[in-house]
Amino acid sequence: MTPNDTARVRPGLPKKDRVPVRSGMSAAFVNTMQLGVVDYRYKGRLAVKCPMDLAIYAELLQDLRPRAIMEFGTYEGGSAIWLADQVAAFGLGAKVYSFDIRPPADLSYPGVEFRFCDTARISDSIDDAFMRALPRPLLMIEDASHVYGNVLNTMEFFHAHAVPGDYLIVEDGMISIAEAEDLHGYEGGPFQAIHTFLKEHPGFYEIDRARCDRFGPNVTWNPDGYIRRIA
Ligand SMILES: C[S@@+](CC[C@H](N)C(=O)[O-])C[C@H]1O[C@@H](n2cnc3c(N)ncnc32)[C@H](O)[C@@H]1O
Repeated sequence: MTPNDTARVRPGLPKKDRVPVRSGMSAAFVNTMQLGVVDYRYKGRLAVKCPMDLAIYAELLQDLRPRAIMEFGTYEGGSAIWLADQVAAFGLGAKVYSFDIRPPADLSYPGVEFRFCDTARISDSIDDAFMRALPRPLLMIEDASHVYGNVLNTMEFFHAHAVPGDYLIVEDGMISIAEAEDLHGYEGGPFQAIHTFLKEHPGFYEIDRARCDRFGPNVTWNPDGYIRRIA
């Protein structure tokens, strides 16, 4: 899987400005485990999640009890249908909206709406009225191109619409642990985007350390990527 060649929203982060990632996982471990992660299936569809994050998500869903879930990056839809099944299992009553630049043409599933959206131009596809009408808390998941500028764009969209208590997961910052921040043109990727965003919005967010460190320090595909809005 490679990132989409969509327009960059902001330029990549120069190497000299990058934040070091600390994790209990080595680059070698991440690179090996990733071979299994990219091949994991749920109900026959690729669901590109590592087992630690499937467990962390399940606990988060039970604790947060989101009333709406927005996922950017559908791929085959395995993660969206897994989310919908978790929502049903925990009785959350939340709808899952899964957005992609290439939404799956052949898939419909109870509790999920698959829609088009390009994370470089989110407001072209999702308007203010839609965001205002969502029941809260909202769980938003950024799992699209993984390009630094695009990830920041999704985070800025969240910032414009989120209220305290809403929650953001930024996926796949582990490429920084895997020393792959520039592989496929990620230009720093999600982990650097998280730290730029937090620097630019002081006081609004906190990294949910308990989730990130649930199985050891940043032993997750989403290092520093479990983020709650607090103001
Ligand atoms: C990592 S996959 C998503 C994996 C999925 N969430 C899962 O866990 O199985 C990334 C997806 O992002 C989509 N994508 C890439 N660039 C995008 C963009 N600019 N806007 C929206 N979606 C994009 C790709 O088409 C691909 O389906």
